[in-house]
Amino acid sequence: MYQILEKEELAPKIQKFEISAPQIAAKAEPGHFLIVRVDEFAERIPLTVADYDREQGSVTIIVQEVGFSSKQICDLEIDDSFLDLVGPLGKPIETEDYDRVICVAGGLGAAPLYPKVKSLAKKGVELITILGAQSEELLILEEDLADLSQELYITTDNGSKGRKGFVTDQLEEILTEDDQFDLVIAIGPMIMMKFVAEVTKEYDIDTMVSLNSLMVDGTGMCGGCRVTVGGETKFSCVDGPAFDGHLVDFNEQLQRSKTYQDKEEKVKEHEFWGADCRAKREN
Ligand SMILES: Cc1cc2nc3c(=O)[nH]c(=O)nc-3n(C[C@H](O)[C@H](O)[C@H](O)COP(=O)(O)OP(=O)(O)OC[C@H]3O[C@@H](n4cnc5c(N)ncnc54)[C@H](O)[C@@H]3O)c2cc1C
Ligand code: FES
Repeated sequence: MYQILEKEELAPKIQKFEISAPQIAAKAEPGHFLIVRVDEFAERIPLTVADYDREQGSVTIIVQEVGFSSKQICDLEIDDSFLDLVGPLGKPIETEDYDRVICVAGGLGAAPLYPKVKSLAKKGVELITILGAQSEELLILEEDLADLSQELYITTDNGSKGRKGFVTDQLEEILTEDDQFDLVIAIGPMIMMKFVAEVTKEYDIDTMVSLNSLMVDGTGMCGGCRVTVGGETKFSCVDGPAFDGHLVDFNEQLQRSKTYQDKEEKVKEHEFWGADCRAKREN
């Protein structure tokens, strides 16, 4: 069992959990993710390692309540436990030889981006970060990212904080003035990563994205997370989730991400599956 040590609400429906998991904390690197199961009746869902503390033996996850399983996690409290935490899974984001980097986070993408920003800052890399969200209340990790970056730009879709518009508007403006960057890392909604990759392609800047493909086992066995990268089939869980953004077939991913939309809506509307699980758990 993996006990919750700390819980903090970062924004409406977005919770941060620090969990005791010494073996995972010992090996976690930026880019890794976990497969999490609350109890024996729960769904297995992938969540990014948003931070880790090797000394304390803990890992941090940041969870946005979007459906049944994420709500089940967000309802947990300090001292509750997860039955399973499998990880660290996936490949770490490799950024060995870069000096000037722009990090772009959209919404919850700030969570997976944060450990990478932290490690780049530790290496002395010159960092600009663009943090975007639909509105001010949904901006997370703003102070943490500001502390680690030379410059932090905020964008909100509705203009409630920072620049009104998308992260790509800010990125275009920066690159128009200075395009001498070695790398752009973009993490957020699939559509955002697609458009960031289109912008950086014009400037010929290496671009890394982290895909939130649908996952089941997270270990390369089911094929659920397959993605076409440079014309080849890859599995996000073992070959990624970070890939060269200029090679990813985003249109295919956007299509695949809708595969179970009708079933997810039914669970939300009727909670039939959730009610069944709760009944089993209570008996
Ligand atoms: C590598 C990776 C890292 C992720 N990291 C985070 C994170 O740090 N924090 C966070 O809040 N979310 C993260 N996600 C997304 C998270 O797994 C989904 O939000 C969660 O599975 C939703 O389940 P649900 O039952 O609450 O919602 P549902 O109603 O079942 O689904 C809502 C949406 O969540 C996504 N989703 C559902 N099931 C899965 C699944 N098995 N695999 C991937 N996506 C799914 C789909 O886009 C779906 O439309 C990550 C996904 C991946 C692949
Ligand atoms: S989640 Fe099953 S192969 Fe990647």
